[in-house]
Amino acid sequence: ASILVLHGPNLNRLGSREPGVYGATTLDQINQHLRELASQQGHHLLSLQSNAEHELIERIHAAGDEAIDFIIINPAAFTHTSVAIRDALLAVSIPFIEVHLSNVYKREPFRHHSYFSDVAEGVICGLGAKGYELALQAAIHKIEQN
Ligand code: DQA
Repeated sequence: ASILVLHGPNLNRLGSREPGVYGATTLDQINQHLRELASQQGHHLLSLQSNAEHELIERIHAAGDEAIDFIIINPAAFTHTSVAIRDALLAVSIPFIEVHLSNVYKREPFRHHSYFSDVAEGVICGLGAKGYELALQAAIHKIEQN
């Protein structure tokens, strides 16, 4: 199956961005690791990071046309603002898991609301880069069940 991993704004700075909050692992390391894990299990993993809302939306639309089976998304700050990305995911009706590196519930109140969680298959937060790996495992499990 094909799995798409989407990373929202500022996640290209992982490794150097507030390492106490987001960890020392870079985005390239995360993507590389996920690609390897997916291919070991016979699946294909693609990823995109963008700081632009419209690019993420257009990638989601394209995923609908490309028969992507599952999306793993860390919408980053767009989690708390983007009705448009939520609507794009609903428009293509590809199941997705929402991931956050930090435990958003330990942080500022404005991070406690997500435009994604109520329509996600599941949500993982606070487990750092490991959260993506767990999301991938869960996605593969769901794909293989169907
Ligand atoms: C984040 C949490 C968001 O509140 C924040 O805006 C981010 C990253 C996380 O992975 O912990 O950019 O999604």
